[in-house]
Amino acid sequence: MSAAQRTIVIRPATEADWPSVWSILSSVVAAGCTYTLEPELSESNAKAYWMGPGLSVYVAENDGEIVGTYTLKANQRGLGSHVANAGFMVRPGLDGRGIGFQLGEHSLVQARAAGFQAMQFNAVVSTNHRAIALWQRLGFAIVGTVPKAFRHRQLGLVDLHIMHRFL
Ligand SMILES: CC(C)(COP(=O)(O)OP(=O)(O)OC[C@H]1O[C@@H](n2cnc3c(N)ncnc32)[C@H](O)[C@@H]1OP(=O)(O)O)[C@@H](O)C(=O)NCCC(=O)NCCS
Repeated sequence: MSAAQRTIVIRPATEADWPSVWSILSSVVAAGCTYTLEPELSESNAKAYWMGPGLSVYVAENDGEIVGTYTLKANQRGLGSHVANAGFMVRPGLDGRGIGFQLGEHSLVQARAAGFQAMQFNAVVSTNHRAIALWQRLGFAIVGTVPKAFRHRQLGLVDLHIMHRFL
């Protein structure tokens, strides 16, 4: 077990966490490989997207440093609101240490506790092999693939997967 796995604490995000969350989000989004968000997204729009009303936001803290974050919400309004949706980001350079797995597990517990019956990811980039392997390990299946729905900054047009699991 790595040091990160031993000491990581996952807790609800506060306003004071935003600068750290933004430092993660801005570099993940600017890379243009994993999220459909526009790479030049402004800080205020990013904050509204990640920490706006209706979103439950959590951070992973390791020795006082924010090393990851996830946001949890209903995937649809109204009659689709029993299905959760979540987005995850680990600080670039700290991936592959189990932080994503712990965030994923935490989100499943929180989603169940909030009364959701399933969780769905709407846009998992088909070339994001690390994420796909992680979600499969956490019980998600690819239930659909939208051809050429993502303009990958390096690879051009690639597919997006929809991934789902019941809770
Ligand atoms: C995807 C992401 C959340 C994963 O977080 P992480 O902390 O790296 O994940 P973990 O270390 O817990 O697990 C990664 C798993 O992928 C595996 N993996 C690592 N690199 C891989 C690769 N190139 N191909 C396939 N699997 C890979 C690891 O072995 C690990 O599986 P294991 O624990 O069974 O060995 C993180 O990399 C990230 O924030 N990426 C950018 C944003 C993103 O893609 N978010 C998800 C959008 S769907």
